[in-house]
Amino acid sequence: MKKKAIVLIIVVTSLAMVGIILTQVFWVNTALKLKEDQFDNKIRIAVKGVVNQLLENKNDTLFQEKLRMLSCRKSRLDVYDYIHPDLLDSLVTAELKCMRLEGQYYYGIYNKTNNRVAFGCYEGFEKDLINSPYQFSVSSIYRPGNYYLSVYFPGKTVILIRMIGYWLLWSALFLLVLIFSFVYVIFNLLQQKKISEIKNDFINNMTHEFKTPIATTCLAAEMMQREEVLNDPNRIKKYAGIIQDENSRLQNQIEQVLHVAAMEQNGPAFKMKKLSVHGLLESVVESFELLIKERNADITLHLDAPNPLVTGDKFHLLNVFYNLLDNALKYSPTNPKIDILTQNQGNQLIITFKDNGIGISHEHQKDIFKNLFRVPTGNIHEVRGFGLGLYYAKTVIEHHHGRIQLKSEPGAGSAFSIFLNSNH
Ligand SMILES: Nc1ncnc2c1ncn2[C@@H]1O[C@H](COP(=O)(O)OP(=O)(O)OP(=O)(O)O)[C@@H](O)[C@H]1O
Ligand SMILES: [Mg+2]
Repeated sequence: MKKKAIVLIIVVTSLAMVGIILTQVFWVNTALKLKEDQFDNKIRIAVKGVVNQLLENKNDTLFQEKLRMLSCRKSRLDVYDYIHPDLLDSLVTAELKCMRLEGQYYYGIYNKTNNRVAFGCYEGFEKDLINSPYQFSVSSIYRPGNYYLSVYFPGKTVILIRMIGYWLLWSALFLLVLIFSFVYVIFNLLQQKKISEIKNDFINNMTHEFKTPIATTCLAAEMMQREEVLNDPNRIKKYAGIIQDENSRLQNQIEQVLHVAAMEQNGPAFKMKKLSVHGLLESVVESFELLIKERNADITLHLDAPNPLVTGDKFHLLNVFYNLLDNALKYSPTNPKIDILTQNQGNQLIITFKDNGIGISHEHQKDIFKNLFRVPTGNIHEVRGFGLGLYYAKTVIEHHHGRIQLKSEPGAGSAFSIFLNSNH
């Protein structure tokens, strides 16, 4: 898929998701508002109900008699003489219960003229009571002054949210699932794209790598068929040598690809034996003899480890050392100076390949051991390769319960160190 198409999909889907979230928020808000209206109505009905019952109580003949007796004793009757606090308490409780209004509440009879609460249950919430939207005048019961019955619910928002709680929870959950799936799909898409690019690179590289030896072999065979060459055994020998060299180069390359493919599929088959790493390192350096001369390279072995023995697979370890030395030579463009060092540390054997090559930038160091990864150098790679060597090395070393570590500075060179458990 093209980059533009992916960006377009991400943008469109992101916009759609924002749209869904906004719609959801809108619906939740509307539901909350609706519930709030219902809640407000219920409280108003309850407050009105209390006032009506207080009025009925006032008109009761027994109560009238009581008031008459009180007025004989007092010069002026107060609001609590008309509205008894205990009666108010029981009426408010009963009405709110009747309306199925749960949760903590406060109430009081307050005077609007001086903004003072006369009595009620309101400790610490005087101001809230005065500003509460649930008020009802009690002037029909007690005229002097400007008294109101007010109710206040401190946990109103919590009560409302609890009312639509399940819906809220489900929508939040579905939204989360949607966002998570979206991020996962996009992440996967980008990863797939990267893998497909790497695979394309690999195929390009491989065809290029195979093309050179095939072309050379073809040319050598053609030359051998020429009349003047057929009569010259020396030239025939030379061209046969070229064909053989190119053939073995091709074979090596195919083997490298096959090793990694086999490792990916079945895991590597290891034949573990006690062996000396020093011996392996010497033979690897020997196999590079021609290339070392050709490249004017200076390779020094510092085999200082007193105990070079490990339990390992000779074939795979040789390949790993071969790859590291091959890289050190490949990525040191001028006069390669390579040091191969061994040392013991605790019960470990450390083998280091140090070069003075181009080095690896810090940004790419974390990817260097990934399958098919090559440091990008634009479209053209001056040095050919598949990006398999270090991945193979890491896999093999990890199967030996060891680790491989890189220290590198761009322009200054690289050092790859292998840590293996030494054998006693
Ligand atoms: N010694 C080194 N100095 C600088 N860069 C290095 C060195 N070794 C590896 N690299 C970088 O790491 C990349 C991966 O190395 P790796 O050996 O896995 O693949 P390769 O050399 O490109 O191909 P091949 O599969 O033939 O080994 C290389 O392409 C190169 O960019
Ligand atoms: Mg390599």
